[in-house]
Amino acid sequence: MEKYLVIGDPVGHSRSPGMQNAAFEACGMGRPYGMRHVTSQELPEFFEYARKNLAGVNITVPHKLQAALLADELTDRAEKCGSVNTLIIRDGKIAGDSTDGVGLEKALEYCFNETLSGKTVLFCGAGGAARATAVHLAGCGVKAVNFINRTVKKAEELSSLCRKFYPALESVCVPAADTAGCRALVQRADFLIQATSLGLKDDDPLPLDESCFVPEMKLRIFDTVYWQTALQKLAARLQISCVGGKEMLIRQGAASFELWTGIKADIEAMRRGFDEGGI
Ligand code: ATR
Repeated sequence: MEKYLVIGDPVGHSRSPGMQNAAFEACGMGRPYGMRHVTSQELPEFFEYARKNLAGVNITVPHKLQAALLADELTDRAEKCGSVNTLIIRDGKIAGDSTDGVGLEKALEYCFNETLSGKTVLFCGAGGAARATAVHLAGCGVKAVNFINRTVKKAEELSSLCRKFYPALESVCVPAADTAGCRALVQRADFLIQATSLGLKDDDPLPLDESCFVPEMKLRIFDTVYWQTALQKLAARLQISCVGGKEMLIRQGAASFELWTGIKADIEAMRRGFDEGGI
């Protein structure tokens, strides 16, 4: 019987079963990880099922905030961002943790071969993806975490949350419609984290005006969307360093696996499992 699940609404696209089962198989533990479609209304009932029947769960959209309210206890980092992507279930008790932030941190270091210390990070977006990761990056010794968002109020809330925990952090917010303001923030960023949902659909526009970018600029773009988006294509054309979100998904999954098993995850096996997809 499956002891681990990823749940979401929708969930059919998830690569978690492929990569988590690859990690379990790599240490001789079979393929105990499945997926289940769970709606927001069904979430409380699912928690009671999980409490009695499961050892671990990954939570994906749109349940990360609701899961933080339903867990019996939260780790410090989940408490700070109010988002949960991992449940650890022991003796009928459900602990909620958030590995998205550490997943992004490790992905940035791996993909760009740079540390975050002293750097200026710019988030484009202030929804669920940014919320789950910005506070963690703010605690990685960076100089600044700035935000651009269509709804600037949401950016300001996230910025305040980051500064609440890290008062020395620099953090400014600009509305996405302020092209000159956006251009100035892009130009002084070391890393741009694309954390809006733009790019999930094929005909989605760029999240920022094209004039924000100049050819061969020394910016590293991390797009949390894991397939080719308009932004990734633009970056390739302008020869700006840019990667999609795959490595972040793998690293957050590896961190979940390690919480459940206490065993170091085989990242290479997880990358292969991710690419193969499916259950
Ligand atoms: P997720 O959990 O995927 O992050 P979300 O919480 O709805 O989803 O957040 C989506 C993000 O993409 C937000 O930053 C949103 O901007 P708003 O806060 O202004 O809603 C951004 N976004 C979504 N559609 C957008 C669009 N058409 N133009 C600009 N930003 C958009």
